[in-house]
Amino acid sequence: MTSEISVRPFGGPCRAGVLTPGSKSLTNRAMVLAALKPRITTLTGVLLSRDTEIMADCLVKLGYSVNVNAEEKSIKIVGRYGGIPNDYAELNVGNAGTAARFIVALAALRMGGEYVFDSDEAMYRRPMAGLLSALKEQGAEFEFLGAENHFPFRMKTWGLKGGEIKVDAGESSQMLSALLMVAPFADEKSKVALSGETVSRPFVDMTLGIMKDFGFSAEPDGNAYDVAHYDAAARRGDALEKPAQYAIEPDATAASYFAMLPALAGGVCELENFAGCKLQGDVAFVSTLEGIGLVKTERVENNLLVFAADNPVFPEKLELDFNDISDTFLTLAAASALLPFKTTITGIAHTRRQETDRIAAMAAELKKVCAEVSETEDSISITPYTRDELAKKIRGEVSISTYEDHRIAMSFAVLGCADLRGDGSPWIKIENPHCTSKTWKEFFEVLGCAKSSSERMRIVGVDGGAAVGKSSVSKECSRILDYMHVDTGSHYRTLTYGLLEGGISDVDTEAVEKHLGGLKIGTELVGNTARMTVCGALVDDAEIRTERINSKVAQVAAMPAVRAFLKSYQRSMADFAKEKGFAGLIMEGRDIGSVIFPNADVLIFLDADEETRAARRAKEGISDSIKKRDEIDKNRKTAPLVMAERAVRIDTSHMTKGEVVAKTVSLIVESK
Ligand code: DC
Repeated sequence: MTSEISVRPFGGPCRAGVLTPGSKSLTNRAMVLAALKPRITTLTGVLLSRDTEIMADCLVKLGYSVNVNAEEKSIKIVGRYGGIPNDYAELNVGNAGTAARFIVALAALRMGGEYVFDSDEAMYRRPMAGLLSALKEQGAEFEFLGAENHFPFRMKTWGLKGGEIKVDAGESSQMLSALLMVAPFADEKSKVALSGETVSRPFVDMTLGIMKDFGFSAEPDGNAYDVAHYDAAARRGDALEKPAQYAIEPDATAASYFAMLPALAGGVCELENFAGCKLQGDVAFVSTLEGIGLVKTERVENNLLVFAADNPVFPEKLELDFNDISDTFLTLAAASALLPFKTTITGIAHTRRQETDRIAAMAAELKKVCAEVSETEDSISITPYTRDELAKKIRGEVSISTYEDHRIAMSFAVLGCADLRGDGSPWIKIENPHCTSKTWKEFFEVLGCAKSSSERMRIVGVDGGAAVGKSSVSKECSRILDYMHVDTGSHYRTLTYGLLEGGISDVDTEAVEKHLGGLKIGTELVGNTARMTVCGALVDDAEIRTERINSKVAQVAAMPAVRAFLKSYQRSMADFAKEKGFAGLIMEGRDIGSVIFPNADVLIFLDADEETRAARRAKEGISDSIKKRDEIDKNRKTAPLVMAERAVRIDTSHMTKGEVVAKTVSLIVESK
């Protein structure tokens, strides 16, 4: 059954906090290693998808106790320290590369076992020869039920002899990974030796890393790996191991789609728990994008914020070797249709033998939206149209075939999020979108949620004393999120300027009230900042930031008449922002959380020690009696400076501006 989904472009910049599902590669490796351990292991944060279900199902058929808890995203496995419970099983590995290689190697550990393997048809064509030959030399016997060295086949097993295990993993590093994981349980201590090179070395490093986490060891030695033997001594030492938990890292390859999104749709994506990933080579995709100048990043605790770059300068053409991060080449290739340069991606020959011939498939689909696409055995080159040309070329929507390949579907979906024509009309349709369930069933829902919701204005209040960095942080956050920015301090300053110019003293309440009664205030948008106008004119910013104003503004701001006058104006800014099409408003001041918008979506209170604030003011070349102003602001009767109960305090004393901005954006994005 074919189906298709139209991708709705983002009407505004994206604002997403995304926790990608657990890594497929790590979930499937961890299942094998947990089955090999002499204990019960609960894997947490796992990916539950077709490929991992296949792996779990194969383990169950081999006789393991495997408990999948879909709600908690956990899998509990009772390890059998190298033993394979059932001596006969019929196993189907679907189109899951990891299950195909790992389960065959695992089953080979059984003394006197017989296993019948089948798979999806697509898997019949995928390479297995390197692994099967290695297992044959180690004692396994094969009867092929189709083409030689391919699925389907029957395997008789006599355990692994160990010693030197030679493998040709030139077509898939999974064959090497499979042997490394089972090698500790060979009869003798073994050395897994590569004949030739392997592809995707980062995946081998991932295997070595997770083996270490599980207490196994394989040390590289030239083109071989010395594997510590799980002998009787190791078994005795481990015999009493307590049940353990192992947390799977979120999927870095899946994160590539959301890292690409800000570069195409603008805005920011927060990749949750991404900064703590240490085992997956594909984390390097984000730094690759940063290197090209497409995005900027900032770490906030364990999360990574990815922003659209500001005025980037690009090369005329770009050539990148994606051998180490080849699963993410599709993400960049699809996006290349809208990048302003020619992109060549090399080092990806082996991807021709993955879910589909990925180079050929991407070339065929990209030709539908690009001026020129060419391929060599190991590369793809994409010459885009200009955006205007593309917008003119495409009538309606382009249908993208997905070849049962989840990554093709997800990459083109991200491309379709760009508002090509600027009117929000869809231009990309994804055929068979369900193929994403291989690694991410909810992908399209999550992508939809990353859109800015325009139905409801989001309000962010930023309060704090003088010179804590409210303005610079609020302005930068507004720019990143495309929210409207309002500096209420400038309102008090503007009124103070008017009073001083009119020769009115702040002690003459009556004169002040009369002055305010005659004032006509309005609003003018300057960039993202809404500025207050008086009698139709903007007062020059420099005029309201002089020493003369600094020394008087706190007294003026303490007057109840002044505060009452500005309160309704400041509250009206939410409607003004909505009218202007902003999805949110960031208002800075002293009483935003306590008086103006106590129900704001996010309230932030910036703080810094006195020394830091004085130094920052001095750096700006401004002389300001901050301490005195703060005293007046805190102690006045009407709307004194306080931290609202709901506010999050950020002490900026030892933080860079970038760090405060990242933290604030993160709080805003996460508050959704
Ligand atoms: O943020 P700023 O330094 O530009 O503010 C100038 C003065 O305005 C400050 O001393 C206190 C006053 N103010 C206020 O009372 N309430 C606000 N919401 C904003 C500023």
